[in-house]
Amino acid sequence: MERILEPELMNDAEQVLAYSNADFEEAHQSIIDNFSQIFPNIEPLHEVLDLGCGSGDVTVRFALRNKECHIDAIDGAEEMLKQAEILISQHSLNDRITLHLQQLPNCTIGNKTYHAIISNSLLHHLHEPQHMWSTIKQFATADTAIYVCDLYRPESKQDAQQLVDRYAGDEPEILRRDFYNSLLAAFTPDEIRIQIITAGLDSLQIDKVSDRHILIYGYLQ
Ligand SMILES: C[S@@+](CC[C@H](N)C(=O)[O-])C[C@H]1O[C@@H](n2cnc3c(N)ncnc32)[C@H](O)[C@@H]1O
Repeated sequence: MERILEPELMNDAEQVLAYSNADFEEAHQSIIDNFSQIFPNIEPLHEVLDLGCGSGDVTVRFALRNKECHIDAIDGAEEMLKQAEILISQHSLNDRITLHLQQLPNCTIGNKTYHAIISNSLLHHLHEPQHMWSTIKQFATADTAIYVCDLYRPESKQDAQQLVDRYAGDEPEILRRDFYNSLLAAFTPDEIRIQIITAGLDSLQIDKVSDRHILIYGYLQ
């Protein structure tokens, strides 16, 4: 099945509210747990970059786990950042998470580099996937822990629908639709492999970690 693009930014108020209210406890907590397993000796982390932070659920969980870090969190959607701001305030993390309304690949957060760059569910939104990899190269050094999580594309629309029914059967229709569209927009593991080779990032590893999730992680060299 060919990739079917979805809009890059999530700026629709109804969609953003549904996403912000969804229960991502299991999925997002496992992202945080996997990071600690993959990079066991990295703590304490100081400067972290979160690409496509959305409403901030992963960002906040990451900050709560890694107590000494400061996170620059980037998203191009103002509606999403409004929700992130609320969540960050609820957890009193305003001094540890800085939100930036910016759209890859035009990130102008200064000449910083980071100890870790994390990203969840951004890659499949990008119409040009090299925007992810060029941004990582812009802000990483050889010591930066790189950790990108996303969906991968199933073989057919039928398979995508089965995944939606299995994992989002009881969710509101708007979330089910988003999940289906995201599966169709996602890349296959082979496509991601070609992307990172093209970007000169072939030291990164690619692992399928479930029937729908993929991790791309490691160091630049
Ligand atoms: C599915 S959400 C994931 C949000 C968050 N990382 C999470 O795990 O909950 C994808 C986010 O990427 C943002 N996004 C898409 N394309 C972007 C771009 N080019 N630059 C910045 N943000 C982008 C969208 O606005 C949306 O908030």
